[in-house]
Amino acid sequence: MHRAMTVDSTKSRPRLLGMLNYLDGKYQHDIARDARQGLAASQKYIPCKYFYDARGSKLFEDICRLPEYYVTRTELSILKEIAPGIMGTFTHKDLVELGSGANQKIRILLDAAGESNRATIRYIPVDISESAVIEASEDLLERYPGLRILGVVADFTYQLDVVPTERPLMFCFLGSTIGNMSEDESISFLHSVSENMKPADRLLVGFDMVKSRRTMEAAYNDSRGVTAEFNKNVLEVLNNELNANFDPSHFDHLAFFNEANSRIEVHLRANRDVSVRLESIDMEVEFKQGETIHTENSRKFTSKSIEDMANHAGLYLQNWYTDPNGWFSLVVMGLNPLITPQML
Ligand code: TRP
Repeated sequence: MHRAMTVDSTKSRPRLLGMLNYLDGKYQHDIARDARQGLAASQKYIPCKYFYDARGSKLFEDICRLPEYYVTRTELSILKEIAPGIMGTFTHKDLVELGSGANQKIRILLDAAGESNRATIRYIPVDISESAVIEASEDLLERYPGLRILGVVADFTYQLDVVPTERPLMFCFLGSTIGNMSEDESISFLHSVSENMKPADRLLVGFDMVKSRRTMEAAYNDSRGVTAEFNKNVLEVLNNELNANFDPSHFDHLAFFNEANSRIEVHLRANRDVSVRLESIDMEVEFKQGETIHTENSRKFTSKSIEDMANHAGLYLQNWYTDPNGWFSLVVMGLNPLITPQML
């Protein structure tokens, strides 16, 4: 059972913008548990969702504009092509965006819907960052007067059941965020999405594809150091949330393609021996020079790995779209009518 906090930012537009916060109080507890576990592991790690506080969400927007970060630009180009086909008949439905962040992508879909379809659509952004949900929603209401929005602050990795599903809907899971989950996590995640879908509902997923090592590694090692800044921000999050004393300058950004696992790995590597105290959880952590905290994986997909994953989750691939280089795929999925939940 989830209880939601209502955010009081809706006074001026009471009927159009609703906000529900399912993380209030939980976030503190979750990050304490995850830090205790992750920093005590032999390969230290921090789950990548903790990148996205207010500052991290802003830095990620900067990453999306970097010349080296082809991911967003490529996905947007495909989305522009396919939006009219998807949104031309999209009426009286909810558009649910998991990990919504800024609103750049959804604007393409909402533009393509046109004013009359838009009047029947409700947009439901779901994100771990409350500031991102509020800012994105307020901006959308300026752009599309009359659009109904229900902002949901939640952790979709375990709170998917808070998303209202009483209306027909399309889930959007863009930006290859699915690649930030392990294979097992992504299959059980897709499976729980499918459990919240009815036969007419759809799921639109963005996948970053395997390509040359050089192109992929450059996207996570930009020359301006924005990605390094974003990566180190997770230490600031730990400092703020758990009263820790990480000095970000004692860690270097490290990102490389791990071919055996078909993923970019992102780490923070101690550039000297470091000892840190996390006051709120009464924990001391020692790092030897060169030791890393694994902060993220970004899996890179092939058509085969995508199909296998969807099949395991009980979904079928309805439409597959890609760019001329085959760098990114947008895939529309539906419930597989041949697979019943009992078979999985
Ligand atoms: N979903 C994004 C991706 O996998 C997240 C991301 C982009 C990221 N750049 C990053 C995460 C750098 C950590 C570090 O591409």
